[in-house]
Amino acid sequence: MRIIIAKDYDELSKRAADMMASQIRVEGHTVLGLATGSTPVGAYKELIRQYEEDGLDFSDVDTFNLDEYYGLSPDHPESYRYFMNEKLLKHVNIDMDRTHVPNGLAEDPETECLKYDQLIEELGGIDFQLLGMGNNGHIGFNEPNECFVANTNLVNLSEETIEANSRFFNSAAEVPRQAITMGFGAIMRADKLLFVVSGKKKAKVVAAALQGNITPKIPASILQLHKDVIVILDEDAASELK
Ligand code: F6R
Repeated sequence: MRIIIAKDYDELSKRAADMMASQIRVEGHTVLGLATGSTPVGAYKELIRQYEEDGLDFSDVDTFNLDEYYGLSPDHPESYRYFMNEKLLKHVNIDMDRTHVPNGLAEDPETECLKYDQLIEELGGIDFQLLGMGNNGHIGFNEPNECFVANTNLVNLSEETIEANSRFFNSAAEVPRQAITMGFGAIMRADKLLFVVSGKKKAKVVAAALQGNITPKIPASILQLHKDVIVILDEDAASELK
């Protein structure tokens, strides 16, 4: 695990975008795993800038998002499909048919989860996965649990996550209670992981995840077992590291 400490969010975003961009430039065809939430927004802005000004070419990129709220349609402004389109995908030369987000309206979520994992497998797995982390240590929507779940699955969101994500909705009551999330199998099989965390609020859980015991109670702690993970923290998020 390589840990980079950026001085602030802007530097974190620039470094994260540069790593994603160089993956695309060097590999050409790339299966990119994407995350939503506030943390990657700066990196996505920088990727759009590199597309517009430096010719970064997304024409041979496939994407898989980590998760989607269960019950939200793709055109709901808080759905993760909508978020991804707005924050990155519709601004670059990517083939929208090659961008994947779990279907939050799937009538049969179990089949949707199976199909999502199958599609990732068919495309050869994820080459480069971007990850953020929730205040409780979740990655994707893999909440603190008794075990690490391997497959894409339908999860109940924790009270803490509902509360944290209520900032995007009118109230906590509007936050969906369930989500479909990629499991740890596809994440840990990705060739490279880029884990980005910003802010003092997450400093304690960052230290626990990166330097504490590996436990499903702190889902991000599993990243300690990955063979090629780069962590970018801003100084605030790194402030409790030993
Ligand atoms: C969303 C995802 C989540 C977020 C996490 C942090 O696709 O993977 O694990 O990364 O909830 O969200 P922010 O960045 O808003 O603090």
